Amino acid sequence: MQHVRFPDGSTRPSLGLGTLRMGESARERAREVAAVRLALEIGYRVIDTAEMYGEGGAEEVVGQALAEALRAGTVSRDELFVVSKVYPHNASRAGVAAACERSRQRLGLDRIDLYLLHWRGAHPLAETVAGFEALCARGHIGRWGVSNFDVDDLDELLGVPGGGACAANQVYYSLSERGPGHSLLPWQQRHRMPLMAYCPIDQGVLAGHARLAALARSRACTAAQLALAWAMRQSGVMAIPKAVREAHLRENFAAAALVLGDDDMAALDALFPPPRRKPPLAMV
Ligand SMILES: NC(=O)c1ccc[n+]([C@@H]2O[C@H](COP(=O)([O-])OP(=O)(O)OC[C@H]3O[C@@H](n4cnc5c(N)ncnc54)[C@H](OP(=O)(O)O)[C@@H]3O)[C@@H](O)[C@H]2O)c1
Repeated sequence: MQHVRFPDGSTRPSLGLGTLRMGESARERAREVAAVRLALEIGYRVIDTAEMYGEGGAEEVVGQALAEALRAGTVSRDELFVVSKVYPHNASRAGVAAACERSRQRLGLDRIDLYLLHWRGAHPLAETVAGFEALCARGHIGRWGVSNFDVDDLDELLGVPGGGACAANQVYYSLSERGPGHSLLPWQQRHRMPLMAYCPIDQGVLAGHARLAALARSRACTAAQLALAWAMRQSGVMAIPKAVREAHLRENFAAAALVLGDDDMAALDALFPPPRRKPPLAMV
């Protein structure tokens, strides 16, 4: 398993589990808790969630699965890296403290390891950063970062007091959405700030891509695995595919063991050409 390095020197696996669409329906809850528990048994150690997902429902699913796994000894708290996100409308200095408290309760955790601003909103960045820094000082979060920030947003963030402590930026990055590879990823690599790639299999679409699947067959893997291995091959990139089905969870985890060579990367460039000019940052 490859790792990404955070600015504080800590390292975490380049593959995590997404939880979008979890916690939305009571009927699905047991299945989703079981999926997160299975993920932990398989070896996933990074879990990405947000107060927005299922309006707290996804954090509750994760919280229940973590509590059960910790009780059962499947995993220790130190190995886990739990990421959550605050809604932009809650990102005032006082608002982040209140939102973080609710998230910690739902997750059943004393500390959220990485806490992100979900996207830019109306609250000044300086206020959000001050709120995040206060949460770090209290030990309620391990570090903070942002999501859906483009290069100009990150430049602005660095100009805010304390903004240089930003630990990560999570953006839409996949073979079919290569925009961030043009300038954003190089910017983040220069600043040693990991890029968390969301929708790394384009919400399942890349798994059914006929030409990607043909290329994958010639490499004895699947299209989804190739998409994930492509993301993880890049320095400082962590992929966070979401899966509930056992076959998907296992298939995606196995992608972390794939080693792509330069010829594989060139074949993927031919199928999904990188943009020549910087496109606007895409968001889901
Ligand atoms: N920061 C943001 O603004 C933002 C935005 C979007 C997403 N995210 C985060 O990023 C995570 C990943 O993005 P995403 O969930 O939108 O999309 P994704 O991970 O690209 O795709 C998830 C979908 O693909 C299916 N799938 C997973 N593995 C598969 C495989 N090996 N073969 C075929 N299908 C497969 C899943 O099905 P099953 O679930 O049925 O197994 C699910 O329907 C999210 O869950 C969330 O944590 C963040």
